[in-house]
Amino acid sequence: LAQDAAAGKSSFNKCLACHAIGEDAKNKVGPELNGLDGRKAGTVPDYNYSEANKNSGITWNEANFKEYIKDPKAKVPGTKMFFAGIKNEKEVNDLWAFISGYDKD
Ligand code: HEM
Repeated sequence: LAQDAAAGKSSFNKCLACHAIGEDAKNKVGPELNGLDGRKAGTVPDYNYSEANKNSGITWNEANFKEYIKDPKAKVPGTKMFFAGIKNEKEVNDLWAFISGYDKD
């Protein structure tokens, strides 16, 4: 399945109310998402996570991100990310291409 980061950027508009990514990204309602690939869940400094997220044991990667974003509450029961999820496989794939393009800082 080809990944289209440009399509992923427009899909990220669904996340922007709560998340920033890229240069100077700050925590908002949700934590900033730079360097997500390989990042331990619940570890962005100065962000007040739920216990569920902090204790999920997840280290974010392509496979578990895709599961999570399809249905966040199913993957992390008790999360305070209230987002219905994205079910379309191509959209999720493109979203990962966009997000994983941002390294830490
Ligand atoms: C957490 C991605 C949409 C609010 C997270 C995390 C990821 C993520 C990967 C875990 C971060 C970590 O462990 O450091 C996304 C993506 C979205 C999206 C890709 C769009 C497709 C939203 C929306 C909201 C939101 C729309 C607000 C309505 C939150 C909150 C957390 C969170 C509050 C912290 C969860 C907790 O501590 O339980 N998000 N998110 N997100 N997100 Fe989102």
